[in-house]
Amino acid sequence: MMQHCKELSNMNQENATPESNDPVLLERSDGIAWITLNRPAKRNAISPPLVYRMVEVLAELEVDDSVKVVVLTGAGNAFSAGMDLRDYFRATDGKPAEQMKLFRANALWQWKQLRFFAKPTIAMVNGYCFGGAFTPLISCDLAAEESQFGLSEINWGIIPAGVVNRAVAQVMNERDAMYYVMTGEPFDGRKAAGMGLVNESVPADRLRARVTELAEVLKKKNPTVLRTAKIAYRNAAEMSWEQANDYLMAKNDQSVLHDPEKGRATAMSQFLDQKTFRPGLETYAR
Ligand code: COA
Repeated sequence: MMQHCKELSNMNQENATPESNDPVLLERSDGIAWITLNRPAKRNAISPPLVYRMVEVLAELEVDDSVKVVVLTGAGNAFSAGMDLRDYFRATDGKPAEQMKLFRANALWQWKQLRFFAKPTIAMVNGYCFGGAFTPLISCDLAAEESQFGLSEINWGIIPAGVVNRAVAQVMNERDAMYYVMTGEPFDGRKAAGMGLVNESVPADRLRARVTELAEVLKKKNPTVLRTAKIAYRNAAEMSWEQANDYLMAKNDQSVLHDPEKGRATAMSQFLDQKTFRPGLETYAR
């Protein structure tokens, strides 16, 4: 999601602590973990310390039972201005070992951890979102915004690498993607929502409330089934129909068998026997 949001930007800016303290802020509140990329003076450009910290933060949150939903956002007036041209790229040029370690760690948090994260994730895009920031944006399950986006790589002499072009191809149609990959033209949140890059474009002063509302919906779902549903979707999308059929049936059996809540049986009984809920309209009482 992205925001049209001056108020939120100001609020984030005020709350941000200096970069030297921590490039990533983490706040747990009532089952929601709010991760804030925290380099507002650098528009939250992704630096090596931010990369390594994100790997740790995501690993920690994935096994924290108190956390049901994760939100990723940025401090100040940016979600993230993408990879840090000075610290991520120029500072590691000619240092292949350092670069390999850094690039691998970046791939780890931006898509290997995030795309298959065991809990639902929401990108709350509160401002500028450029280049390398597209990968974590697309790796999140849902997104809302008020922002300015751009595949700006072409403007400064590289291609959308890392895995940006691949991520973009997952959610945008080819005509839109090629247009922005080749022109580097910025576009706003409404356009991003129209192209499917984010789920919805929300006024800035409503962004946090809307994301919280969405997180609350997700918190009510059976977490075992939720985790399986998202992982199964991501994997099945890249399989043949035959493989997907077999895999999804097996995955569903696994989910039902290992569900400590026995949600399927409970929900069936509430619908068929007790007649206390209708699955088409709501979640069963947990
Ligand atoms: N890498 C390194 N530094 C960055 C950065 C990036 N991706 N994006 C912003 N910064 C730094 C600027 O160098 C500047 O640092 P300084 O204060 O030490 O001079 C500071 O952040 C503020 O940037 P500035 O350009 O003055 O802010 P702005 O609000 O006028 O513009 C942007 C914001 C995001 C439009 C602009 O900074 C920009 O175009 N950034 C690069 C975006 C990009 O192409 N990213 C793709 C990387 S893969």
